Amino acid sequence: MPPHKIIIDTDPGQDDAVAILLALASPEEIDLLGITCVAGNVPLDLTSKNARIVCELAGKTNVKVFAGCDRPMGRDLVTAEHVHGKTGLDGPNLPDPVMPLAQGDAVDFIIEQLREFAPGTVTLCPLGPLTNIATAFEKAPDIKKRVAKIVLMGGGYFEGGNITPTAEFNIYVDPHAADIVFKSGVPIVVMPLDVTHKALVTKSRNDAFRALQTSVGIAVAEMTDFFERFDKEKYGSEGAPLHDPCVTAYLINPDLFTGRHINVEIETQSELTMGMTVADWWGVTDRAPNATFMGDIDADGFFDLLTDRLARL
Ligand code: RIB
Ligand code: CA
Repeated sequence: MPPHKIIIDTDPGQDDAVAILLALASPEEIDLLGITCVAGNVPLDLTSKNARIVCELAGKTNVKVFAGCDRPMGRDLVTAEHVHGKTGLDGPNLPDPVMPLAQGDAVDFIIEQLREFAPGTVTLCPLGPLTNIATAFEKAPDIKKRVAKIVLMGGGYFEGGNITPTAEFNIYVDPHAADIVFKSGVPIVVMPLDVTHKALVTKSRNDAFRALQTSVGIAVAEMTDFFERFDKEKYGSEGAPLHDPCVTAYLINPDLFTGRHINVEIETQSELTMGMTVADWWGVTDRAPNATFMGDIDADGFFDLLTDRLARL
């Protein structure tokens, strides 16, 4: 089977960084067309800087990295320095990037790539707020039918929210963008908190990263050592939840995940539940299914894959 042609849309973010590294380490399954950056965990100038830091850490300076939307479609930007630190990539001490940003805007790159490749060829992998994706769909509606699928990290049902009682951060930051994406008709695979909160970097898993004794392995161990504080304190978790690498791992081995094809709609009216993914997991409505919403993960298999692949960089 040929590798998936993908665009990673991202707001690095330590977990985004690990997702990008996993993609860069997996050329048999993933042909990374480019990375498009969006404001989210930290402002756009930092997410677009951090994406390049990660590419240089992996020694992949030929990756095209674009800057995109610097704020949500209809709300003020909410960031997450309380989770990811001031730089968005706190933990390891990594050098500023030398590689430049690619010329042009991320939204235009997404449109151009979808128009260039045959319909059903390009997969979009959003790891942050969906602003770039929704803006591309609004600017060029013709591309929606050309997208092979969207595999995204976002939302939650049994887990509730992580930024409000009902909303997960990526969806909460730009609920209007999420609404556009979930109503786009594009096939969607969702990695919600229900799954990502089971992908925890326990001490033994962190030790396995460090035991690689490579700059990548040590950097990932230091990133997750930093990034775990928020979830350990809030949830009493055993370690950092690797939210975004679930997206990349799905493309490499979808059998690591199980879920249901259900209806998912986004709250965009009530401030109380703004950004909630209203997932009809139990099929109690007659709303048409529009997303494959994951509910479980083979966590040991996930970390075995991740560690094996990071060892390649
Ligand atoms: O809620 C977790 C998500 O929000 C992850 O993608 C993390 O990187 C942040 O963007
Ligand atoms: Ca992210």
